[in-house]
Amino acid sequence: MSEHVDVEAVPVDPPIWKRDFPYEAESEEEVTRREFARYLLLGAGTMAAANVGLAAWTQLRSINTGEPMEIIALDEVSVGGTYLFRYPTDADPAVLLRVDDAQVVAFSQKCTHLGCVVYFEPDHDRWHCPCHEGNFEPVTGEVISGPPTRPLGKIEVEVRDDGRIWALGKVSEHYE
Ligand code: FES
Repeated sequence: MSEHVDVEAVPVDPPIWKRDFPYEAESEEEVTRREFARYLLLGAGTMAAANVGLAAWTQLRSINTGEPMEIIALDEVSVGGTYLFRYPTDADPAVLLRVDDAQVVAFSQKCTHLGCVVYFEPDHDRWHCPCHEGNFEPVTGEVISGPPTRPLGKIEVEVRDDGRIWALGKVSEHYE
């Protein structure tokens, strides 16, 4: 025969937060929804701010003028030949093209589409990006064809009296 034990219900104190914020169940749900919406807005705001920051950073980089830097002697590059260097920082691949006896041009080697490396194609007289078949004019860096919409980032260069080529630090606004 089983013995019946009568357990008396012991009143439990409500948690402190419930005493301080005595919402009914329905209001609690409303508050939760409101808070969720607030977090959603906060998240969207943060992302928007991050985008603005990124755009500003890109813009700042685009006006990074760098310091004048000696690259190489003119007679070390054959006419129609190229020379790879880094400018304005070690993280920025750049390429120089000797157009003729006296003229040299230089560009960022990063394609303005998605940043692949461009190289000179003498047979087609153009800068070529193999990633998505982007092509750029050899002297101006303007887009000839393909998905890029902006010219290559141009680096101002000069040949000094001693025959050395210098990057002058002036980088076009399209430099990335
Ligand atoms: S990255 Fe150069 S064409 Fe797309």
